[in-house]
Amino acid sequence: MRKKIIAGNWKMNKTPSETVQLINELRPLVASEEVDVVFCVPAISLTKAIEAAQGSNIEIGAENMYYEESGAYTGEIAPNMLTDIGVKYVIIGHSERREYFAETDETVNKKVLKAFEHGITPIVCCGESLTQREQGVTIDWIRQQIKIAFLNVTSEQAKAAVIAYEPIWAIGTGKVATSEQAQEVCAAIRQCIKEIYDEATAEAIRIQYGGSVTADSASELFAQPDIDGGLVGGASLKPDFGKIVNYK
Ligand code: PGA
Repeated sequence: MRKKIIAGNWKMNKTPSETVQLINELRPLVASEEVDVVFCVPAISLTKAIEAAQGSNIEIGAENMYYEESGAYTGEIAPNMLTDIGVKYVIIGHSERREYFAETDETVNKKVLKAFEHGITPIVCCGESLTQREQGVTIDWIRQQIKIAFLNVTSEQAKAAVIAYEPIWAIGTGKVATSEQAQEVCAAIRQCIKEIYDEATAEAIRIQYGGSVTADSASELFAQPDIDGGLVGGASLKPDFGKIVNYK
């Protein structure tokens, strides 16, 4: 049985002091032994977030990192800077980073490999645009994203990875995918992982759905056989996140 993983993606929200306040507020609400709970927060708040989450079930993740070890990369964050403070997860290739910050499938792959090298669990994002969905190319597109993201990743590493399927048309729009749409793509992702590796890897990897998940939609989405939790944006900044974590 795969353990569900429910992650908040705070995006560019909350100052370091506000981060401490919000974690203190959410801590009791997200207490759960049944699911893994991750808060992905802006880089500048990571240290404070880790301190504020101490002694709770909350793990802290970054929203991005660079794929080099160190050097002349002004403004970037190296993987050992994350591990040094206790960061366990990193979101890689979110559609907002692909759209506004020129992330490509190739840079996603480099970052995924680097994250594993440092023992950080990547939450690898994929997802189609509305045009792609309307043109019927969703599955082809997602398979390509996954195949490139996992190039040279070993099956042992892939087993520990998290994939977030986030249709771009559902992110921040209030238009959540139906549970059938989300299940169809998450099943296709698992099938793709099986083709790249094997059945055991496909069974182990955890696949989240993301895009306008709320306390109302979570239970039906997370009940789907191939959906192992969610990557939650807007609703992760509110007490509602507690209801999403305790969705059953
Ligand atoms: P949303 O964001 O829940 O606000 O749609 C999800 C995400 O972008 O990870």
